[in-house]
Amino acid sequence: MPPASDADFSLAGAPPRPGGPVILTSPAAMQRWRRDHPGELGFVPTMGYLHDGHLALVRRSRAENPLTVVSIFVNPAQFGPGEDFERYPRDEVRDLALLREAGVDAVYLPSAAEMYPPGYQTYVTVEHLTQRLEGAARPGHFRGVATVVLKLFNAVSPTRAYFGRKDAQQLRVIRRMVRDLDLPVEVVPCEIVREPDGLAMSSRNVYLSPEQRGAAPVVKRSLDAAAAAWAAGERDAETLRRIVRGVIAAEPLAALEYVSLADDETLEELEGRVERPALLSLVVRFGSTRLLDNLELA
Ligand code: PAJ
Repeated sequence: MPPASDADFSLAGAPPRPGGPVILTSPAAMQRWRRDHPGELGFVPTMGYLHDGHLALVRRSRAENPLTVVSIFVNPAQFGPGEDFERYPRDEVRDLALLREAGVDAVYLPSAAEMYPPGYQTYVTVEHLTQRLEGAARPGHFRGVATVVLKLFNAVSPTRAYFGRKDAQQLRVIRRMVRDLDLPVEVVPCEIVREPDGLAMSSRNVYLSPEQRGAAPVVKRSLDAAAAAWAAGERDAETLRRIVRGVIAAEPLAALEYVSLADDETLEELEGRVERPALLSLVVRFGSTRLLDNLELA
């Protein structure tokens, strides 16, 4: 299928489906639709409350696949007790309008009751990778993510699945699961989409007060400071982490939860001279809101 216009990447791929996307609400309905629509298919799993970060994944999938499916499911299994499952932002009507405009073929919107019926007891654990960083801060989180992503893959049977680099550890956990379980899916990483002031887009940014929102770009600035030092030849792991800490400490509304400079693949924390690709990541709290960001150093 030729692009609709060479100039407009967003219109590349198949033409939008007339009448908007088909909405499928159970694993069985999703599998049936997939059986009736064979061939290459791109898949974008989300928890909804869509922003341009999500939509960039959708555009990429549309450009690379004749069919695109997006799922919206706020997955209870990846939220810990006391986390924000109940208040996680939701706006299904707006999400569906955006996906219709984006030209996706089907939206998979399963209910929690269909995904985790009474008696449900099977979970996927990716062992070492999930012990650190977000896994350490949020016990059980990645078990919930890996489990739901495998269930979504089993319903959708995608050729390619699109994940943002924003959630760097999640991307690595999914890649590991795909390799370890021989899943016939190509995982496609996508660049972080940011607000004009540098704040990484996130559904959770709506939790920020206006003052916190004003201060939030400090997260990206701290990464920029480390990137500048890296570009100037700084290779000491602790010095790079200290640069991040220093920038965050200067912002009174920001509290650094952790900063990590880790091996890009294993996520083992690095000490001394950094000699291989590394992931610099951090979580900064503004009140009770955790903002997550990262930078790949190679
Ligand atoms: P959610 O937070 O909705 O994110 C869905 C996808 O969008 C993820 O791959 C995430 O990395 C990507 N994304 C979010 N913000 C982005 C940004 N600013 N730039 C680029 N990509 C961005 O991640 C989840 O949902 C869930 O854990 C899920 C994988 C759906 C499993 O429940």
